[in-house]
Amino acid sequence: MIQLGIIGTNWITDQFVQAAHETGKYQLAAVYSRRLETAQKFGEKYGDVEYATDLDTFFNIEHLNTVYIASPNSLHFEQAKQGILAGKNVIVEKPAFSTPNEMAEIIELANQKKIFFFEAARNIHEQAFKTVADFLPLKNHILGADFSFMKYSSRYDQVLAGQEPNVFSLHFSGGALVDLGIYPVYAALAWFGIPKESVYYAQKIATGVDGSGTGILRYDHFDVTIRTGKISDSFQPAEIYLTDGTLVMNAINSIDEAEFHDRNHQQIKKLNVHQLENPMVEEAENFAKVILNPTNHKLGTDYEEWVELSRNVNQVIYDMRKSAGIVFDADEK
Ligand SMILES: NC(=O)c1ccc[n+]([C@@H]2O[C@H](COP(=O)([O-])OP(=O)(O)OC[C@H]3O[C@@H](n4cnc5c(N)ncnc54)[C@H](OP(=O)(O)O)[C@@H]3O)[C@@H](O)[C@H]2O)c1
Repeated sequence: MIQLGIIGTNWITDQFVQAAHETGKYQLAAVYSRRLETAQKFGEKYGDVEYATDLDTFFNIEHLNTVYIASPNSLHFEQAKQGILAGKNVIVEKPAFSTPNEMAEIIELANQKKIFFFEAARNIHEQAFKTVADFLPLKNHILGADFSFMKYSSRYDQVLAGQEPNVFSLHFSGGALVDLGIYPVYAALAWFGIPKESVYYAQKIATGVDGSGTGILRYDHFDVTIRTGKISDSFQPAEIYLTDGTLVMNAINSIDEAEFHDRNHQQIKKLNVHQLENPMVEEAENFAKVILNPTNHKLGTDYEEWVELSRNVNQVIYDMRKSAGIVFDADEK
């Protein structure tokens, strides 16, 4: 059983802990929060849990084996580093790190210490995502793709009221691209590989981050267009254009319908895709398999692929961000 600790007490952590318990492979063992009351309120429904309000005490909890980090983005790096140095596996919420340097340092440290680092990129662990991957033909049959993920954030109301919530803050490495745009970028890189060029045109809001934007990932003979935003909602399906037809998915971040419109045979083929009620169960299950079977060769290969994908996604997002002139405080470190 994986003894799990958590950093960050918002709803997403609750969803992850429930998913982790649903796999039967984790037990919540410790909660870190800046305030004891918040930690207790979070942990009380999960039984026998230890609480900490400073990170040294938290990471020193001996039986803690793995830590899930869902704090504001810019804090992930130092927290993950401290966790790895204390001998804990780290599951870091997306976007795991602000810059390619931070990503490289964590990957190197984790390898050195024989510790696992996972980016909680939920979508790539889903059955639906893999079904689409298996369906796609060789790259020379791909003619392009359009992926949108835009969802209004209630925290934008705070920006309109003159405040700066973490998710819309340059200091905390926020903005639409890193928060929601990361899902379509993950999809593009997992399905099509690393683009040769990545650009992003951002519409900045009062806090200086991108409230919305359009990106283009350029491959040898096709482009992927990415639309993302947190100041309006999109209901557009996701599409992949192929030489013999078009694959249409209800959405890119959470695929529960996918059908191929076959131009040659004038027919529509439905792919067998579904979503679980708790969308974090599949990633929690995959991470647990690796943690619990550290010498399994096949799982080790999967793990290395996820880490390389995280590294490449981080680099592409960084390049896109730079092309749009979005500068985080973390860039200056
Ligand atoms: N996978 C997904 O679907 C998904 C969904 C939502 C969010 N996320 C990711 O999860 C992470 C957290 O997102 P969020 O929206 O929950 O962030 P958030 O509300 O800004 O902060 C998360 C937690 O971090 C702590 N915190 C807040 N402000 C802090 C500060 N100034 N200094 C230190 N700690 C602070 C708080 O915990 P305490 O008060 O207990 O210390 C809070 O509960 C982000 O990386 C985000 O991208 C992922």
